[in-house]
Amino acid sequence: MAAALAAVVRTVMVLGLGLSVGEALSLDLYEETCPQVEAAVTAAVRQAMAKDSTVAAGLLRMHFHDCFVRGCDASVLLDSTGNVTAEKDGPPNVSLHAFYVVDNAKATLEAQCPGVVSCADILALAARDAVALSGGPSWVVPVGRRDGRVSLASETATLPGPRASFEQLKQAFHARGLSTKDLVVLSGGHTLGFAHCSSFQDRIFSSLEEGQGGIMGMDPSLSPSFAASLRRACPPNNTARAAGSGLDATSAAFDNTYYRMLQAGRGLLASDEALLTHPKTRAFVALYAASQEAFFRAFAKSMLRMGGLNGGDEVRANCRRVNNNKP
Ligand code: HEM
Repeated sequence: MAAALAAVVRTVMVLGLGLSVGEALSLDLYEETCPQVEAAVTAAVRQAMAKDSTVAAGLLRMHFHDCFVRGCDASVLLDSTGNVTAEKDGPPNVSLHAFYVVDNAKATLEAQCPGVVSCADILALAARDAVALSGGPSWVVPVGRRDGRVSLASETATLPGPRASFEQLKQAFHARGLSTKDLVVLSGGHTLGFAHCSSFQDRIFSSLEEGQGGIMGMDPSLSPSFAASLRRACPPNNTARAAGSGLDATSAAFDNTYYRMLQAGRGLLASDEALLTHPKTRAFVALYAASQEAFFRAFAKSMLRMGGLNGGDEVRANCRRVNNNKP
């Protein structure tokens, strides 16, 4: 009876998105088959971060974009093939980076314990390490995710965009079995990293145009001095593709500055600002702005919830390609 119930839970489909919640992840799956898994992933992340301070943000966002499309099944890691454009080449993912870090960890693990550790597990562990090595919390990552065989650029359209309204954000999280609190907590991932001008340019100029969620224009909720500094970083005729801004003022450090900036009218994306529109989410923002400890505790929990979405069916030999063992 209990087993039957567990099977039902495992196969509950979340609003037709193809995600199942409650897959049987384990704390000791690799204990005998690949005990060096944690050390290998941590070493790969640490080595990359020592050379490039943007790697941590890249890995954290990569894990989020993986989990939100078909569950955490490493579908985001697959390269496009002759006839299929993969998630990686979908519009929200073209700015993802640091794929080589997962490749490096995978190469080490394939040499030590071939065919054992999934790419999805490596990415979940790498995201955790990226946060911890940036000064954030750490947590134990249950493992046993399987890698998917399908990756479609078209499905990245379901990822929430930078102009999403509060309702759209809530819907994107609820559709994956995540709560409104998870939305506020995981948006705190924007304590790391960078956004290109195109992600917020329509908030800093006064010319009105049709945006995704209605008419966009100079956003009155932005602090005027912050808007002015963003206009300097992203002039209207800007042609520098790498131009943009840190998502918070301490973008290489995992801390609660993101929430304090939000409260000060210095949230970079319209989707960040949207967290202030509802009293419930505004209260969470205030809580995490006041207590980094509360944010860290909540972030670890929400990452575990997001990382528990799984949907794959094999352990890939190469994270960029599906295995060649099926007809
Ligand atoms: C709530 C909905 C979210 C939206 C609409 C959103 C949107 C964005 C956008 C537009 C960027 C900038 C992309 C660019 O211009 O290059 C970005 C960056 C980033 N996002 Fe999010 N995001 C969301 C949630 C999350 C979550 C849940 C996480 C992780 C827990 C996350 C982690 C990051 C990180 C770390 C970066 C910086 C990436 C880098 O510097 O390479 N985001 N996000």
